[in-house]
Amino acid sequence: MHFATSALALVASAIAVSASTVTFWTLDNVQRTVYFTGNPGSAQINPVTVSNRANTTVNFPGQWVGNFYAVPNGQANKPGMLGEVNFSGWNGLTYFDVSAIVDPTDQNNVKQMWPKVSRNPMSGCQVFPCNNVYWLPDDVQTKTTTESDLITTLGSGSTGITFTQN
Ligand SMILES: *[C@@H]1O[C@H](CO)[C@@H](O)[C@H](O)[C@H]1NC(C)=O
Ligand SMILES: *[C@@H]1O[C@H](CO)[C@@H](O)[C@H](O)[C@H]1NC(C)=O
Repeated sequence: MHFATSALALVASAIAVSASTVTFWTLDNVQRTVYFTGNPGSAQINPVTVSNRANTTVNFPGQWVGNFYAVPNGQANKPGMLGEVNFSGWNGLTYFDVSAIVDPTDQNNVKQMWPKVSRNPMSGCQVFPCNNVYWLPDDVQTKTTTESDLITTLGSGSTGITFTQN
């Protein structure tokens, strides 16, 4: 009886830990490849091709910390506007932000990120440049959420969503 209960608890926590996702929502008609860079100790995640034909949900192993960037088909693979995530942040929180630190001129790929259910807080902007991204190493723009499922938009266009902060 005790064994069964703790085994169930183990399964439940394993599910909770492995449930982190980012869903990519493409707003324009450009096909892109999203490349993931895990910090040391984080699993390697294969690139995915995304377009507006479907939203693509990528699963992250628990504890994943790193970033991703998107490259339109036919263009050189180099990091640009970043989506940064820490799915194993302090107190189990998810830390995330859109960062222009590598290439602020990459203004039409990774756009906005927000927690799937609450849609708050939101990082990034529909049109760059804006002050809702991480620009400098000492910038305090990292957002936190108790959710582990995020949405990221790519490309130009409107989400039609009114975020509570912009
Ligand atoms: C992607 O998700 C958004 C937000 O839920 C939705 O409005 C949009 O219709 C979805 N796109 C596709 C192709 O399913
Ligand atoms: C991720 O969050 C953990 C817990 O707060 C922290 O120790 C770690 O430094 C964070 N990683 C990055 C890259 O910020």
